[in-house]
Amino acid sequence: MEMSNRNKKVNKKSFSVFMIFALLLSLFAGCTGRGNSSHKTLRVAVVQYTSGDNFIDALTNCMKEQFQEMESEDLNIIMTVRSGDNNQSTQDKVVEEMIDAGCDILCVDLVDRTSPSKIIRLAEDAGIPVIFFNRELVREDLMRGENLFYVGGDAAQSGVMQGELAAVTLASNPHADRNRDGKIQYVVLEGQTGHQDTIIRTDQSVETLRAKGYEMEKVTYQIANWNRAQAENKVSQIISEYGTKVELILANNDEMALGAIDAYEKANITASSRPLIFGIDGLDDGIEAVKNGSMQGTVYNDKEGQASAMTSLAYALFMGQDLSQFDFQDGRYLILPYREVTTENTDDFEE
Ligand code: GAL
Ligand code: CA
Repeated sequence: MEMSNRNKKVNKKSFSVFMIFALLLSLFAGCTGRGNSSHKTLRVAVVQYTSGDNFIDALTNCMKEQFQEMESEDLNIIMTVRSGDNNQSTQDKVVEEMIDAGCDILCVDLVDRTSPSKIIRLAEDAGIPVIFFNRELVREDLMRGENLFYVGGDAAQSGVMQGELAAVTLASNPHADRNRDGKIQYVVLEGQTGHQDTIIRTDQSVETLRAKGYEMEKVTYQIANWNRAQAENKVSQIISEYGTKVELILANNDEMALGAIDAYEKANITASSRPLIFGIDGLDDGIEAVKNGSMQGTVYNDKEGQASAMTSLAYALFMGQDLSQFDFQDGRYLILPYREVTTENTDDFEE
């Protein structure tokens, strides 16, 4: 009898020690966010190349909405957005701060797509996966670590589509060749120098027009860094220098196409003396301009698709899921297709 009573006491004592231990363990797991506890917190740091880029802001908003939808009783998602202020060493520092503050996944739109080394090293040391987006890094850099990914569009496809849209519009508007010399006098408004979308869109849209038989004569090109005000400024200068000579404007994005339209508006040049104007992105303002006819077409840059690729990849990486559910190219790239937007199909793109 005595023996069994003592045993009971010992059992009771070890049970409470066990309970305290289990409690501590669950508290600890809760703090790390990645433990076995059923409640998890996913912390995502999104580092833009700059703040105030309309397309990047729209893409970031899509991510925020999608992460909100992914939240559940068991999963809390904190998405923090910071800017690299258009300076690579500033962006490197911001990434370092985000890692120090604690984050599980980094999403980075590089300022300089040829200089990801510091970010790759910092993330690797901290064991944090990086999803690069929008500014495509060189393949060798992306292949430097297993936890590096890229999400974006196919730059060549957007250029080809812009060229196709312009070709179709030119074919149905013979008066677009206003001086009737059989050539198309054109201007390209370029985004930031060195950006894959600047180089490839410019090249592919003009090449596509040539391949379709148009004789293309470059009046000038201007760099307007994706920016509406800069484009307006540059196009105002073009108007004062060349008058109404320009027959076609190919802008690397809608913001710059809209800036060109602003310049023609301010110069009081009527529609019949304006060039045909094409953009890329298909944000609300761009779609509206195609709808009201001030812009002849744009190419939809699938921000919802790109955001969804990033948010679901971030989730899968955090949960340690099998990545075979993703349609990777080269094991690391998730590339979303572009779509052509004309006056006929703007309704498909309105929210
Ligand atoms: C492009 C987009 C531009 C600009 C740029 C920033 O894909 O078309 O509008 O946002 O990315 O890197
Ligand atoms: Ca002409």
